[in-house]
Amino acid sequence: MSEYPFFFTWSAQHAAKPLELTGGEGAWFTTKDGRWLDLGALSYQVNVGHGNRRIVEAIKRQADELCLSAPNAVYPAKVELAERLLKMAGPGFTKVFFTLGGAEANENALKMARLYSGRLKNIARRSSYHGASMGALSLTGDWRRPPLEPGIPGVVRAEDCYCDRCPFGKRVETCARECASHIGDLLAVEGPKKVAAVFLEPVPGANGVLVPPPEYWPIVRKVCNDDGALLVADEVLTGFGRTGKPFGFQHWDVVPDLITVAKGLASGYATIGAVIVHERIAKFFEDNVLACGLTYYAHPTSCAAALETMKVYEDEGMYANAAKLGPVLLRELHAIRDSVGGFARGLGLLAALELEAPIEEWKVLGAELAKRKLSLHVDGKRGTAIFAPPLCITEQELVTGMRSFGEAAKVAFGSRG
Ligand SMILES: Cc1ncc(COP(=O)(O)O)c(C=O)c1O
Repeated sequence: MSEYPFFFTWSAQHAAKPLELTGGEGAWFTTKDGRWLDLGALSYQVNVGHGNRRIVEAIKRQADELCLSAPNAVYPAKVELAERLLKMAGPGFTKVFFTLGGAEANENALKMARLYSGRLKNIARRSSYHGASMGALSLTGDWRRPPLEPGIPGVVRAEDCYCDRCPFGKRVETCARECASHIGDLLAVEGPKKVAAVFLEPVPGANGVLVPPPEYWPIVRKVCNDDGALLVADEVLTGFGRTGKPFGFQHWDVVPDLITVAKGLASGYATIGAVIVHERIAKFFEDNVLACGLTYYAHPTSCAAALETMKVYEDEGMYANAAKLGPVLLRELHAIRDSVGGFARGLGLLAALELEAPIEEWKVLGAELAKRKLSLHVDGKRGTAIFAPPLCITEQELVTGMRSFGEAAKVAFGSRG
């Protein structure tokens, strides 16, 4: 039995490895064992960095002023936060629906798409994670869904945009972007006009940082337009500068219908997510009931935390820092790949090393990283190490951390590159 009187997530209880956090600052967090360099932003959410006093003070001020609320109550932080999110999303977006986190943002996007279109099916990809609530989990393609099946019916699985191991057996230099165009084939086969929405992470994050070719999103947008299916950008992980742009989809000339966000929105300082809704869909709910909502949506302290987080991003140029340091991260990762083998890919401050190696070697990597007090997302079963440091990390911290990772990787995997 675990010694703690509560359950740990995503784990057999005896195997859980609790993180005894005591605090942190910038790109570093502390546990009772000392100071760790956070190359994974804890659960990919601490974009703004640890120990940010501005956000803590904003939460305190809001708690003093108005701490208790109801989902349809109005107060300044909620209004200003929504306005900022709409501005960040760009022209055409007119409404925000606040949630408690990422899974629920997707859950509500599912419901909105169904209510709006009257259609019952959805498309999502194999290597995807959209959250753990039953609807979002049904969209999810990775290992987390099967133990809980059956989920909601009607989710159709699309192939990945996985250039290093193309599911169509093609090469990115010569392919016709089948990974994108086959979504049009799926829409036709399932319908036509039967699919409510296509859910895509701009860059699938936790499943290996599968950066799509530049034509991918525009092709998917076109096939969705042709069928009338909505396009949902799940920006829960990629939003708020993670890929070097405010939103991941902004790397390409494309406008989704719904954008789901959480994680970086308040950077983990409070519980909040949102669906950012394009006017096309928002208008529908002027006269039709939006049958969605939970008691704690848009809590005042969460809105205040998110609002201050967005101001910090802006004042401290963090999205620009992510754009500037992205190539540095990739350069360091390529050098490691050249030494230990495998694939390296990334966009902004989101990158992955993928390597086929026995699970024992991945365990050695985990132990070596712990020795060096480096925190990141290592998945030995899938063969990936994923990097997503806070956006406030300095170049020196990043390079030192990556070189230290490289040493650990050499111990674990030897030099096979
Ligand atoms: C792309 C994506 N969507 C949704 C979620 C679920 O977010 P939450 O854990 O806040 O429910 C995650 C979490 O990792 C995610 O990476």
